Amino acid sequence: MTEKLQKVLADRGLGSRRQMERWIAAGRIAVNGRPAAIGARVDATDEIAVDGRNLARASTPGCRVIVLNKRAGVIVSRRDPEGRPTVFDDLPTLRTGRWISVGRLDIATTGLLLFTNDGGLAHALSHPSTGIDREYAVRVAGMLDDEALGRLTKGVDVNGRVESFSDIRYYNGSGTNHWYHVVLMEGRNHEVRDLFASQGTVVSRLKRVRYGPVVLPAWLPRGAWEEMGFDDVAALRSILGMSEERPPRKRSPSRSMLIPYPNLT
Ligand code: URA
Repeated sequence: MTEKLQKVLADRGLGSRRQMERWIAAGRIAVNGRPAAIGARVDATDEIAVDGRNLARASTPGCRVIVLNKRAGVIVSRRDPEGRPTVFDDLPTLRTGRWISVGRLDIATTGLLLFTNDGGLAHALSHPSTGIDREYAVRVAGMLDDEALGRLTKGVDVNGRVESFSDIRYYNGSGTNHWYHVVLMEGRNHEVRDLFASQGTVVSRLKRVRYGPVVLPAWLPRGAWEEMGFDDVAALRSILGMSEERPPRKRSPSRSMLIPYPNLT
């Protein structure tokens, strides 16, 4: 099976696909000893070199995953023209490759955000076809009646698309503020806020508490991140049908961040 050269390079964490296209155009990439052309496709038998160094030797040091407890007011973007703080500001520096965020959260949304240096893992975790669910704790003003709850799980029109929660549960509350837990199979922009808005309800707090098998650890303070241990990374990859190619680079912490979860392959 062949894949576009810029995708293979981006999946190795060397940069974005567009950046990789620029590297190819600049003649920095060779395939089987010859300068690669834009549009080239490669398979596992092709030898790729970046600036004359074989990609196997220039590769990233294993698959790493970071769990961040995002705070409000921070954006999920590498750069912000308005100069606001971004989630990438505080992540550890990678000697090779770069951190890729697994999806996005709105600026006001808090909670679990995953990062990895492995483009293949980021893709598998975020692609709708993988069948991974996301759980959010949501604070709204007032309580929804049974009809509204039914509509939110059956499907409502949101900007011309039918959207729904796969589950919605009342959690607790008093007075004006009430908390629900909702589960989504996809993570479209503003989806939770839009779904509640479709029932005339404004979300005043939104926090992601779970991403598939990864739960937001209770011990992780707001704004802090922790690197996932090797055992958890291996288990996560196995759930997604991915292999673990390299030996552990870091001892697992004593506390796992995963809950039991079905295999998705
Ligand atoms: N849904 C939203 O509305 N916002 C988020 O940040 C995530 C999911």
